[in-house]
Amino acid sequence: MLLPLAGKRVVLGVTGSVAAYKAVVVASRLTQLGAEVVTVLTKGATHFVMPLSFQAVTGQPAYTDADLWGQRAHVLHVGLGQQADLALIAPATANTLAKLAHGQADNLLTLTALSTSAPIVVAPAMDGGMFTHPATQANLKALRERGVVVLGPEEGRLASGLMGPGRMVEPETLIGAARYHLTRGGPWQGKRVVVTAGGTQEPIDPVRAIGNRSTGRQGFALAQAALDCGAEVTLIAGPTTLPTPWGARRVDVRTAAEMAEAVFAALEDAEALFMAAAVADYRPLQTAAQKIKKGKDALDLHLTRTVDILAEVHARRGDLPTLQLVVGFAAESRDLVENARAKLQAKGLDMIAANDITARDAGFGAPTNRITLLYADGGAEPLPLMGKEEVARHILARALVLLQGGMVGHLCSASAWENAQRLGEYRPPSLERQGFIHFARLDQLAVVAQRWFPGRNDLLLLLVPMTRLIPHLRWEATDGALYPHLYAPLAIDAVAEVRKYNG
Ligand code: CTP
Repeated sequence: MLLPLAGKRVVLGVTGSVAAYKAVVVASRLTQLGAEVVTVLTKGATHFVMPLSFQAVTGQPAYTDADLWGQRAHVLHVGLGQQADLALIAPATANTLAKLAHGQADNLLTLTALSTSAPIVVAPAMDGGMFTHPATQANLKALRERGVVVLGPEEGRLASGLMGPGRMVEPETLIGAARYHLTRGGPWQGKRVVVTAGGTQEPIDPVRAIGNRSTGRQGFALAQAALDCGAEVTLIAGPTTLPTPWGARRVDVRTAAEMAEAVFAALEDAEALFMAAAVADYRPLQTAAQKIKKGKDALDLHLTRTVDILAEVHARRGDLPTLQLVVGFAAESRDLVENARAKLQAKGLDMIAANDITARDAGFGAPTNRITLLYADGGAEPLPLMGKEEVARHILARALVLLQGGMVGHLCSASAWENAQRLGEYRPPSLERQGFIHFARLDQLAVVAQRWFPGRNDLLLLLVPMTRLIPHLRWEATDGALYPHLYAPLAIDAVAEVRKYNG
């Protein structure tokens, strides 16, 4: 199971507001996503919720000011602050915001906030009058200027019974924001990714349209997975009710033409395109200005081709200097691999994810998917049935390899290589011992040589282009990331170059 926040540590600060009960939901969901959530409650918070509520849902300690004066006191606040990857203070009262703005540290929570260098996210919750008071506004301004992320508050019904600004944002927003800020340092950091999702609709008249059964789930999961890997994501979506993954820039479109326009605008500075949308191939030649009334006779609709966005991207690739990777999707009802490979070639793709739409547990609307990945360099990699979120992570892991490209190295003895040439495959002893072949990045070769082959001077260096390897790798989840291993002997024609290794 891949948990996107595995290994991440959150300090959840809870202060004295009626919204404190919602923080229990946040703590629970972040824990389910793999994060380690340690809670710190102010005295005010304990009037509304119990530390035990948080301890129970997180499996981690929940501290109060009583712990501040305990035996571990002097290390506790510094330790909490230093180990945190994110400090999330929700709900944050006017009083706590004022303390944070002025660097006051008179309780465990404010001490922790002052000692952390992790990003701080606050979710104000208070009465409308307190929120709009110039003092609170000045405090929030000071916090924002210092890089603190302020979420909300929202307008709505307040504890006083009045309507106004002051309601804490909903748990979903807090979870999304925490997830976003915790994953900024991921392997796709700094990369701009465009994802299309959902089906397009081509209008017949003001009330009718030609559409398809795509729900957008796989595309939205891809956008979330790209965010989880640290990417900046533009999500271009056809009509769907799915919520936007927090941190994605969403562009809503309806027709294929609108989607094409949005894609080309977003590709001006993007590195990768994932074209998961089910784009209509045909549209009505004319759209009636008024609703078409029914008549006795059959109605003929004349259809014309829409723009093939991927084909157009391929044709214009020379004008898209930042674009390095294009991934397509193929929904097929027969001859899956052959049809998908033809699309990959015709549309100049680096990778295509093909799925059989006749399977009931995969494709349109299903929460799971079973895809086969095909690569421009050759090779087909069928993946087992898994959740669409997990499919998205697997696609991202391979896409990163394609994007980074380059060579990986393997050290081998001259006699083993001689043997390999006779057999047509390289089967190192490590395959028998550990069950997989270990590859190293070129800058790590010296370390590998020292560890595995100390004092040997008869080594050869096998250089393999990463793209040739991908279809043969198996990806295993450790914490929140997928790591590749090669479990089969290496075909010797995958080796691009063999040289004598001299350290
Ligand atoms: N696609 C596109 N523009 C279109 C139609 C499809 O960019 N007008 C993209 C899809 O987003 C997908 C890939 O092309 O990534 C393959 O889509 P698919 O509809 O399965 O293939 P087509 O090329 O349209 O072929 P066919 O409908 O004949 O199967």
